Amino acid sequence: MGHGIAQVLAVTGRTVALYEPELSRAEAGRERIAGNLGRAVDKGRLTATERDAIVERIRPTAELADAADVDLVIEAVFEDAAVKTGLWAEIDRVAPARAIFASNTSSISIDLLAAAVNETRRPRFVGMHFFSPVPVMPLIEMIRGSATSDDTDAAVRRLAADMGKQVIVSADRPGFIVNRILMPFLVEAMRALEAGVGTAEDIDTGARIGLNHPMGPLELADFVGLDVCLGIMRVLHEGLGEPQFAPPRVLVELVEAGHLGQKTKQGFYRYPRD
Ligand code: 3HC
Repeated sequence: MGHGIAQVLAVTGRTVALYEPELSRAEAGRERIAGNLGRAVDKGRLTATERDAIVERIRPTAELADAADVDLVIEAVFEDAAVKTGLWAEIDRVAPARAIFASNTSSISIDLLAAAVNETRRPRFVGMHFFSPVPVMPLIEMIRGSATSDDTDAAVRRLAADMGKQVIVSADRPGFIVNRILMPFLVEAMRALEAGVGTAEDIDTGARIGLNHPMGPLELADFVGLDVCLGIMRVLHEGLGEPQFAPPRVLVELVEAGHLGQKTKQGFYRYPRD
């Protein structure tokens, strides 16, 4: 999601440092952005000059020290509390006092993540949950931690407006609003598959045509990433203790086998699909 977030920020005219520990991955992210914007040029919605200017505003980097003069840090690393808190503690040592810290966590408590930074920073620590694909999905879920200030809230709303995205506000509870609604749907589709109620294709077609969803639940899980779905279900299940969030066996087995969905070319389906 990181490259999608970098793209929508750069489109607003902001300069973006796109950080990855490996520079080649940050550069690949910028290439993907150039490709995405290239399609907009082909469709006549953007000029080639505008595309080039947007891409120019994105500077790939492998140096956390580049956070020394930023107004905002958005973190979109793997959905693992230890990975996220470790990174936030490092960034907190580098970034200026004025910088807002926003985590794109999809389920982990903002207070838990904010505990990794200095107490004086916590009023400027907030959750900004984007949805895939970021340039297309017009929603940001804002999660205020117990210390998040009204100024930070207002800054997130201004930024979202610049990006053309609508804000909803969630309390700092496991899975927030959208994944708390979405995950039981994905869990039940996986359980229906396990129980032999229908094929993957028929379960997905049922949701697409019968419910008018753009994607069926199994193809959506493949699209989001099965490891990501599993991580979110575990946070929900552990945090809320309710059976509808328990990760289905078929999901655990696919993840253990390294089949993570579209990104590994195999999940509930093989990719490219026929
Ligand atoms: N990156 C950027 N743009 C993309 C894209 C991508 N990966 N995939 C598609 N697009 C753009 C296309 O360029 C096209 O743009 P245009 O209309 O301006 O020309 C537009 O999206 C529609 O694309 P297509 O016509 O190729 O394909 P579809 O009509 O099938 O739409 C889809 C693709 C937008 C992905 C649609 O299937 C969809 O909305 N799926 C559901 C997505 C969803 O539910 N996302 C939320 C997941 S949950 C989440 O993210 C939270 C997390 O915490 C788990």
